[in-house]
Amino acid sequence: MENRGAFKSKFGVLAAMAGSAVGLGNLWRFPYLVGTNGGAAFIIIYLVIVLTICIPIMYSEFIIGRRSGANAFGAMRILAPGSKWTIIGVLSVLASFTILAFYSVVGGWTLDYLARALTFKFSNLSQEELGALFNSIVTSNMEPIIFMLVFILVTVLVVIAGIEKGIEKYTKIMMPALFIMVLIIAIRSVTLPGAGDGIRFLFKPDFSQVTGKTMLDALGQAFFSLSLGMGCILTYGSYVKKSENIVQMSFLTSISDSMFALIAGLAIMPAVFAFGIQPSEGPGLVFVVLPHIFEQITFGSILAILFFFALFIAAITSSISMFEVLVAYLKEEFKLSRKKASFIIMGIVCFFGILCSLSEGTLGNIKILGLNIFDMFDKLSANILLPLGGLLIVVYVGWRLPRADFNDEITSGGILKLGKRFISLSYYIIKYVTPLVIGVVMLKGLV
Ligand code: TRP
Repeated sequence: MENRGAFKSKFGVLAAMAGSAVGLGNLWRFPYLVGTNGGAAFIIIYLVIVLTICIPIMYSEFIIGRRSGANAFGAMRILAPGSKWTIIGVLSVLASFTILAFYSVVGGWTLDYLARALTFKFSNLSQEELGALFNSIVTSNMEPIIFMLVFILVTVLVVIAGIEKGIEKYTKIMMPALFIMVLIIAIRSVTLPGAGDGIRFLFKPDFSQVTGKTMLDALGQAFFSLSLGMGCILTYGSYVKKSENIVQMSFLTSISDSMFALIAGLAIMPAVFAFGIQPSEGPGLVFVVLPHIFEQITFGSILAILFFFALFIAAITSSISMFEVLVAYLKEEFKLSRKKASFIIMGIVCFFGILCSLSEGTLGNIKILGLNIFDMFDKLSANILLPLGGLLIVVYVGWRLPRADFNDEITSGGILKLGKRFISLSYYIIKYVTPLVIGVVMLKGLV
């Protein structure tokens, strides 16, 4: 492979993987889904899905990427020439655009809050005022779009810098910093007077309320949070050396991502109950709750700055990974330069991003199946495109990829001594369990 770029070190791969996985999905999407889906039961279903099916799906994606050494589209062309499997590439391009569109909007909100934290604009606001502030920001025309454009521009600049100099460098520092800050916020949140109800909400499951929709939301969130099902891990996998242990990498990524989500839950939910906010508030939840927590912490206004900065970086490392899917695709399939590919994609993402942003206000009356454009993109990608992409990936690896290739990849060509039983178990999970679970959950959730 001529000059595609590659990750240099093992820590670099992990940082990039965790950087892709940990993002707004953990700190923004997870808490609000927990809130709208009734709490603990959702979390348990989510964790079971991550541990049993998502980890094998993750290494399936890795296998396709590393084996082919190409982008999501090219990979299937190389591994299954002349077949219809390139549909995996089509789905991944579609999903990347839909996610990037609303993701950039939320990334813009994060930047907006960072700017406000820097000028101490929300210290001493009451809960109602914070709610009203969030509403007025997201429904206005210009402000969120400007911040969104900045968010997209920063993403593109890092992507242009390339794999090793860009992605690897920026992810290594900010992730641990973010983790520590979320931990500090969680500690403050659980020690607020009245936090008990929130803790109960997080840990005392009520399975009687679980519906097909809860399950599908949990599945979609697991895919979303782990960056699965749209060729993201596949594309990163194509930059990973053959000697790296992809099983271990998948476990570590999934576990650290889930820890982040749980701690984010602990940071948000107790405070939600302590402040008397509705847990089912929706996408504004973190933005309304967090500033209020910062007011309750000594030096909270400094912490607010650090936090929103770190959240912005976490969001950037995730959006980079989605951009990279599209850039690798354009660059390799249409023989464009990295720069040119990046700018073309930037243009398209900006367009859809603007639509999403306006759909929170001015274009709010355009509804598809009762959802505005923003919510429609969110649900379409997480609950349909990603599980569908994941389904195709595991069916390919379980049923089409030669078994010997599977063994070769997960043992790094025989260097790694993984137990025979473990390898077989993984294989059969990929072949039978994952397609079945995805299929059933999708059917139950959609019908
Ligand atoms: N996982 C990221 C987050 O939680 C978002 C993300 C990055 C993603 N790459 C992806 C989601 C690929 C789905 C597919 O913020």
